[in-house]
Amino acid sequence: MPDTAAHPFDALTADAMRAGGSWKWSGQGVGDGVDRHGRPLIGAFVAEMDFPTAGPVVEAVRASAGASQFGYLADAWVADLAAACAAFWADRFGWSVDPERIRPVPDVMTALVATIEHFTPPGTPVLLPTPAYMPFLTVPGRLGREMVPVPMTAAPFALDLDALDAAFVSSGAKLLVLTNPHNPTGRVFTRDELRAVTAVVERHGARVFADEIHAPLVFDGRAHVPYASTSEAAAAHTVTATSASKAWNLPGLKCGQVILSNAADAARWSERGYLAEHSTATPGVLASTAAYAHGRAWLDDVLAYLDGNRALLRDAPLPGVGKEIPEGTYLAWLDASGLGLDEPPSAFFAREAGVVLTDGALCGGPGGMRLTLATARPVLAEALERMAAALS
Ligand SMILES: Cc1ncc(COP(=O)(O)O)c(C=O)c1O
Repeated sequence: MPDTAAHPFDALTADAMRAGGSWKWSGQGVGDGVDRHGRPLIGAFVAEMDFPTAGPVVEAVRASAGASQFGYLADAWVADLAAACAAFWADRFGWSVDPERIRPVPDVMTALVATIEHFTPPGTPVLLPTPAYMPFLTVPGRLGREMVPVPMTAAPFALDLDALDAAFVSSGAKLLVLTNPHNPTGRVFTRDELRAVTAVVERHGARVFADEIHAPLVFDGRAHVPYASTSEAAAAHTVTATSASKAWNLPGLKCGQVILSNAADAARWSERGYLAEHSTATPGVLASTAAYAHGRAWLDDVLAYLDGNRALLRDAPLPGVGKEIPEGTYLAWLDASGLGLDEPPSAFFAREAGVVLTDGALCGGPGGMRLTLATARPVLAEALERMAAALS
């Protein structure tokens, strides 16, 4: 049973969030826009949480500011981050990684760019199961690489292995972007599913970019299984990227981590990864170290709260809309294709309900929408009530 008891996060109001000025509460007209009924808009389109981060993280940032630790990254800070990240991954996911093989990057997108540029043959396409995190659809193209969408099977969403197999053959792609837990479907892939992916990737001598930024955010007793931990073959063909930014809500602090899982990749990264590491922010490294080392109790509390929000979505009547209750992440995929709208569903719900969602077309899943659940429960309840009213 999810914990739906009163929680301090319940007291966070939409007005306070708007006053906070985050992109989620100021972008796409949310700052001062209203819906057809004159109600202020509710921001639910950015994958971040509306909760203040963990106390130890705030203390780390305060301490770094107090000591003016704004210089370039020192080796000792990188080592502390790697040790804290390795300990967290070992305890939480049962995968022991040599801290020497955990490297700082500003963010996961930078890690993807570095992986495409330094770990795949020039000019080769990139396979992307869709729907997907929006920038993944466009970044390969900016690097002169074709992005080959491979629709997942729906619903429930699963990787379409035959389609992946065929796409490797027809495109000559040498990289698969594998996001797990998956944004935007909320799937948490099982060990068996991941092993099946390895068989396909090996057949084509390809690689995997394992985006595990949402790794700590799984529900119902599920385990996050790091892809590179599933076999020697997977470890040999994978660059893993993660970050404390989703689970502790720190995306603006600009610190992610790349995990190299074989000696050849670690050597290649140390030769070529330098530029990707260079723009990592020192306060972000110190904050992320604190999150991994001292933020576990906060994380567990947040997971329980998010579980209550999942229950709210599960129980919300949204006639004609398919709901994917996320197995992991705080993102829910809503299938509005059955509504027969003659406009993108996000436009309908922004105007009629004042709820600003990510349109599925941006994720390569037209007809769908992505809803961020990580807000105060009364705010989520209002968003869902307004959406239900718009449907009736
Ligand atoms: C699955 C996934 N990957 C990558 C990112 C981007 O992460 P970063 O800000 O570290 O580049 C996000 C952000 O929402 C995400 O959800």
